[in-house]
Amino acid sequence: MKLDTACIHGSKDNNHKTGAVCTPIYQSATFAHPSVGESTGYDYSRLQNPTREQLEKTIARLESGVDALAFSSGMAAISCINELFCPGDEIIASDDLYGGTVRLYDYITIKNGLKIHYVNTGDHRALSEKITDKTKAVFVETPTNPMMHVTDIRLVKEIIGSRDIYLIVDNTFLSPYFCNPLSLGADIVVHSGTKYLGGHNDTLAGFLVVSNHELAEKLRFIHKTTGASLSPFDSYLMIRGIKTLALRMERAQENALKIAQWLREQKKIVSVNYVGLPDHPGYEISKKQSRGFGAMISFETDSKETALQILQQVNLIQFAESLGGVESLITYPILQTHADVKKETQRRLGINDRLLRLSVGVENADDLTEDLKQAIG
Ligand SMILES: Cc1ncc(COP(=O)(O)O)c(C=O)c1O
Repeated sequence: MKLDTACIHGSKDNNHKTGAVCTPIYQSATFAHPSVGESTGYDYSRLQNPTREQLEKTIARLESGVDALAFSSGMAAISCINELFCPGDEIIASDDLYGGTVRLYDYITIKNGLKIHYVNTGDHRALSEKITDKTKAVFVETPTNPMMHVTDIRLVKEIIGSRDIYLIVDNTFLSPYFCNPLSLGADIVVHSGTKYLGGHNDTLAGFLVVSNHELAEKLRFIHKTTGASLSPFDSYLMIRGIKTLALRMERAQENALKIAQWLREQKKIVSVNYVGLPDHPGYEISKKQSRGFGAMISFETDSKETALQILQQVNLIQFAESLGGVESLITYPILQTHADVKKETQRRLGINDRLLRLSVGVENADDLTEDLKQAIG
């Protein structure tokens, strides 16, 4: 079954007998046992729920994983991974990560005795030099949020070699429709399902997809014990959103390329970061490891005033955090998504008061450029 078909039919629940075309919402916290020592396979919804199970099967299929786990948010999913490690263990992470992941690492993970090293995971010498016997995981986001740096996943796997180090890839920006990191050597794929998978800016969710059963078992134990499982209703909304993933990704990407090209021609726009532009430094790597470039753009304006004016003046495009939905959203990373990233890191990465991030939705591209045009002035 091809990926676009799996988006629609991957959640087919073959167990129910009603012929319902859509997976029902099993809004039940608990399930009765037929007799002592017997189970229907469902005991309690924190552990298993039929709606969530169908969603998990779909995600596992889309990412070619052996198992997928659904969480109440992307951050809950990333937090679950951290429970695999012990005090003294070290994680190497991309230095340009979603700010919430940095906040988790810098304020909570560290407190629990883990050490985080940030490196440019696209710089293979820097990555090799950081690996020690204490390294237990390399956490890669590609393309990165918000600077759109691309990491060669296969190469990171090559550097890790046969060492006992998990390669974790946050695939939120590309979604399984454009990239499947497990097939490139990753052990765990992370998704903020809140973004492209859900696709409608109406539901928080997170996923982990794993490459082998042993790891799946460890994560399932943490998942059911710590309890951030996705609710049946939110699981249903996710299943519904995923049905149009292929259509949305294609349209959003088409729009993003048009808008990135248009932005480049504007006098008040100094630079545009979009992986789908052939002169983007990550373009060739992306072509090798993914089937598309996604629809996330960041761009630098000529002044803070221009950046603020755009945020103030956009009408159709909404000034709001998040990304990956049908509605185009614009954010100000320095004050929003990346506010908790250390000042020195912000400076080094280029996250400044002139940088804006645009999540291109599926509206008509001409309407989006019209809106940007009047906002830039
Ligand atoms: C790349 C990336 N990973 C993880 C997350 C966290 O996901 P959530 O907001 O669903 O907790 C986000 C949120 O913006 C993100 O952009």
